[in-house]
Amino acid sequence: MAQQNDTFKKVIAHAKEYGFVFPSSEIYDGLSAVYDYGQNGAALKNNIRAYWWQAMTQMNQNIVGIDAAIFMHPTTWKASGHVDAFNDPLIDNKDSKKRYRADVLVEDYVGKLDVKIEKEVKKAAKRFGDSFDKAQFLDTNPRVLKYKETGDAILKRLGKSLENEDLADVKALIEELEIACPESGSKNWTDVKQFNLMFGTQLGASAESAMDLYLRPETAQGIFVNFLNVQKTGRMKLPFGIAQTGKAFRNEIVARQFIFRMREFEQMEMQFFIPPGTQQHWYEHWKETRLKWHLALGLGEDNYRFHDHEKLAHYADAASDIEFKFPFGFKELEGIHSRTDFDLGSHEKFAGKKLQYFDPEQNKSYVPYVLETSVGLDRLFLAVFSNALQEETLEDGSSRTVLKLPAPLAPTKVAVLPLVKKDGLPEVARKIIEDLKWDMTTAYDEKDAVGRRYRRQDALGTPFCVTVDHQTLEDQTVTLRSRDSMEQERVSIAELRMRLSDQVSISSLLRSL
Ligand code: GAP
Repeated sequence: MAQQNDTFKKVIAHAKEYGFVFPSSEIYDGLSAVYDYGQNGAALKNNIRAYWWQAMTQMNQNIVGIDAAIFMHPTTWKASGHVDAFNDPLIDNKDSKKRYRADVLVEDYVGKLDVKIEKEVKKAAKRFGDSFDKAQFLDTNPRVLKYKETGDAILKRLGKSLENEDLADVKALIEELEIACPESGSKNWTDVKQFNLMFGTQLGASAESAMDLYLRPETAQGIFVNFLNVQKTGRMKLPFGIAQTGKAFRNEIVARQFIFRMREFEQMEMQFFIPPGTQQHWYEHWKETRLKWHLALGLGEDNYRFHDHEKLAHYADAASDIEFKFPFGFKELEGIHSRTDFDLGSHEKFAGKKLQYFDPEQNKSYVPYVLETSVGLDRLFLAVFSNALQEETLEDGSSRTVLKLPAPLAPTKVAVLPLVKKDGLPEVARKIIEDLKWDMTTAYDEKDAVGRRYRRQDALGTPFCVTVDHQTLEDQTVTLRSRDSMEQERVSIAELRMRLSDQVSISSLLRSL
């Protein structure tokens, strides 16, 4: 745990020091769970968004993208169920006065059992060496089975209590498990209460004419209310999808863990409209497709797992999360929900307008079912960034901090460095940048010894450095240095663009899907 905390602290410090993520309005001491992206963070975030957008709208002829407003008619949130049901169960500790999500306290308790299982696996792997069979060990070791059984039973009970709105049982569970306040160690808890997560605001100039609005807590509703607009104007046939990226707002009770849980964040959501009865097929399809999309980033297969929901949201008939191993353990990265016809059906009722599709094959009209994929851009940023940040010990015993971002996502793809600031080398370096800048992001750096400049680019995640030296003036070649292998090779200037552009382009990721 202490090591996890340490790693996470390094991630946060590195993000700030190198211009990726700053606390919001820092000169006023920041705003809780709100963050700003700096010059490198904005670029990394744009690249992640582009990878998602292109994978959805460019790679699929039947998925189109929209950009709906953040403000929506307030009845939207009545129809979607958010006014009545978008609540989190909160609990206060009477001694520390700290507020927690009751379900998260229980889930963290189960998370500790998972850590114990991991420890057992590590111990056994050491004991059995090469002959260790992890799958068999997990299926048969009595201690592991006990931890798993206990964890499953706790989560099942929690799911049931939340589904039945039995908040007294959630409190009873916390007391039975003897869960203490993480800050103070006190077990003196209040009752569990529901808390609505939407932020309210007002539209209109005078108090009398003002209309109460909400900042959208998910982007999905902007897609639902535009379903017929897009279907008709795009002459879309089922099955088809509408994709959108944009800001969402939630007044989270517990907002810690940096950009993992924010009050203002960005979602990338896709609603896939399908004929009723086909939802099981599309649910499996999108689970597999989305996992593949994540795996193409190369962050390691073992860092992902599915978590099928016991407790379903008010709109879903099946739901699964893709979880990622963050520095603080496995947590939700993306949700895949089979949303039935709940949203369109409900908007039909509240708006008094038909939201139906005429199916020429079945010769009838119906409200389509919906399969949703929803991933948090900031969470994905954290997954990519924390996985990429590494401390390496080099052959000569020295160490380097390197941010091994997937090359197509890196803020700067290539840094061009004149070996010295004279003899015409800066001019050649600038000319190389002029040639490359049409195809990739570049940086110029002439300060300090070249070794230090390499380290600086390593820490920023720049996958390639090009060094211009005196030999360049004679034979038009440069040194091309790779961030990950640190290997250097001599390459002609004329070849550079060809050598680099494919490796650093988003299409290289798309091609591997
Ligand atoms: N439209 C469905 C929906 O909003 P969700 O599971 O509540 O479902 C989807 O959210 C994704 O949005 C999550 O998997 C997560 O990546 C991201 N997300 C949700 N709340 C967040 C928060 N407070 N901060 C950052 N990301 C968040």
